[in-house]
Amino acid sequence: MFPQDFSWGVSSSAYQIEGGWNADGKGPSIWDVYTHTPGTMPADANGDVACDSYNRLDEDLYMLRALRVKSYRFSLSWSRIFPDGTRSSLNQKGVDYYNRLINGLLANKITPMVTIYHWDLPQALQDRGGWENVDMIDIFNDYCDFCFAAFGDRVKLWMTINQPHSIAWLGYGLGTIPPSIKNPGISPYIVAHNLIKAHAKAYHTYDDKYRTSQGGLVSIALNADWIEPKDANVPRDVESADRALQFQLGWFAHPIFKNGDYPDAMKWQISAKSELQDLSESRLPSFTEEEKNYIKGTADMFCINHYTTKVVTFATGKLSPYSYDDDRDVLETEEPDSPTTAYAGQRAVAWGLRRLLNWIKEEYGNPQIYVTENGVPSPFPITIEDTDRIFYYKSYIDEALKAQNLDGVNVKGYMATSLMDSFEWMNGYNFLFGLHHVDFNNPNRPRTPKRSAHYYCQVVKDNGFLTVGHLQLHKLVGLRAPCGSSSISTDCLAKIRSASSVESVSNL
Ligand code: BGC
Repeated sequence: MFPQDFSWGVSSSAYQIEGGWNADGKGPSIWDVYTHTPGTMPADANGDVACDSYNRLDEDLYMLRALRVKSYRFSLSWSRIFPDGTRSSLNQKGVDYYNRLINGLLANKITPMVTIYHWDLPQALQDRGGWENVDMIDIFNDYCDFCFAAFGDRVKLWMTINQPHSIAWLGYGLGTIPPSIKNPGISPYIVAHNLIKAHAKAYHTYDDKYRTSQGGLVSIALNADWIEPKDANVPRDVESADRALQFQLGWFAHPIFKNGDYPDAMKWQISAKSELQDLSESRLPSFTEEEKNYIKGTADMFCINHYTTKVVTFATGKLSPYSYDDDRDVLETEEPDSPTTAYAGQRAVAWGLRRLLNWIKEEYGNPQIYVTENGVPSPFPITIEDTDRIFYYKSYIDEALKAQNLDGVNVKGYMATSLMDSFEWMNGYNFLFGLHHVDFNNPNRPRTPKRSAHYYCQVVKDNGFLTVGHLQLHKLVGLRAPCGSSSISTDCLAKIRSASSVESVSNL
């Protein structure tokens, strides 16, 4: 079982569920504009109505109450609060909606976990260059400042940004999500630089103006796959796996949780490639000493979104065109032995979560960790008898439990993704992650619990899995290895990677 104060929750995000895309003065976000552009989305899907949560708050609260969750992770729609992205455009009706939601949660003893910005940038700010524009640091800070002031008397758990990696790489590198900029070797690094500074500034604003009176915690929701070396006996594969993790998670976590700066592996790789590309300086921007001190330590807990595991081996990346992908010098493939899911390439590899949690523990000095997203889409045909999802949750939660109970990882909470079937970004309504089914063909958007909702409710009620035998596992695996403070040791990595997928705790 998990500790008594373990935070069981579910997650969602504004654009994925709210609808009301232009209701009561809301301004357009980059997702509104993108999905309204003909030919961009499968089946012309958009979030205009989605789950209609803007008008169906009571239904959402009812589901949350029935699930017995202790926390609910949702996001604020920036352009619902500030239609043009800035304070001068304040839309009080948008603020009222979030006040009703937060008050409704508290009335039901559910802790709000608020993501301030989950991808839906106000279009007006994209028109000013979006995250490539350094002005965004102050603009974002002012938005966060407003949110802390407006909701911080009741909200005590904050995440500034959801998955900055996806914003930088998918939004400005591959261009597969809005704002659809394809500049894979330059823009992601500039964008990430601005996102990190924007996060740090918002954190300091909380510290300076709100922490004493409000006493909350502020973090950022990062995402990472677990990366397994193709052959753990080949040092180059092991180094490549570690490098891939540093490029994905370390890109943001190293500055924020370690020393204010990018991981050495990134600095070295990108500067070496830039030199070979005859550039006068590295494509990876650098932080000044003052900036490093400002960024370092700007998170009170570690929030991690995790879905799958990849296998990597060394491969020399191309020099042209410039690309973050090639800067890594890795070849990434699926984990071949694990069950496939409805998402091509996204296998259900539960043991990867345990290894990732251990890696975070060792790399970042045993922080408090919240798994802020974890879940799986349903295969077709969609049915409420979603045994595949039950299996996914059971096995992943079990691995989180092993990390917590056996490895001493400080896992404080787990948020299942997602509360209900939602608009899944570029996949529209084709891949649905919900614990509840939503009938998108019915204007009332009725919500129906799937089998997995009943299962998850039981897990929450039991605070894990009711067994007596779990302590026996202590003798099977021991991962409490002392590690160096600057970077995770090879010895530690080897231990994390060799921790076998032992029998399920709940089966003992
Ligand atoms: C996003 C979620 C989304 C999930 C599945 C994650 O990367 O943060 O908003 O629901 O992917 O598509």
